[in-house]
Amino acid sequence: MSHSYPSITSSPSTDNAAEPEAAHCQCTTRRSLLLAALASTACLASSGDVAAAEDQPGADERPKKGDLLVQSEGDREGSLVTLADLPVGGPPVHAWPKDPKTSVVRSGSRLNEILIIRLDPADLDEQTRSRAQDGIIAYSAICSHAGCPVTAWVKSDVGDKDVFKCMCHNSEYDPRKGAQVVFGPAPRRLAALPLALNEGALSIAGSFIGKVGGQQPG
Ligand code: FES
Repeated sequence: MSHSYPSITSSPSTDNAAEPEAAHCQCTTRRSLLLAALASTACLASSGDVAAAEDQPGADERPKKGDLLVQSEGDREGSLVTLADLPVGGPPVHAWPKDPKTSVVRSGSRLNEILIIRLDPADLDEQTRSRAQDGIIAYSAICSHAGCPVTAWVKSDVGDKDVFKCMCHNSEYDPRKGAQVVFGPAPRRLAALPLALNEGALSIAGSFIGKVGGQQPG
């Protein structure tokens, strides 16, 4: 690979003519540097905002009783999860817990991300139904295999129902049966998170039931 560089010549007759051009060039360079610095500052400020949000006291603490739930992705990221966001039969909503007193969103740990889904209560097994609120149930969004996020809601490879699926190594979990593993290498079910429903408002009713996170590094 060869590089070509502009040649620099100097002569009395061209020096004067070159000065305005050089001045323009320096000016353009200064302007470019200024714009780059401003862009960089804006970028730092934006990533600083995210970092600041995740650094707030309580942001990495596990979900607590009374926490609210806010969407963790999509157009409504940061908004409270409402019943209107949860059609019966899915898909699930991805959410973070939010401390109602401090308004801190507990997004400082990826282990706090939650899947919330609404299913027909008649489709739930007894234990899952006993935890459900109007068919609404919640689980950790972190795969128990190697800790990838569980992102898909798709038809199972081993049945005709939709299931949670981790796309890293295709583990599948059935939310109707306490998120037990129905396919793939995951060694255990997703941790469940008890919910409360008061006058249409969802909140967290207790700590995770079961271990959160993967058994091995991804
Ligand atoms: S990390 Fe989810 S299947 Fe491997």
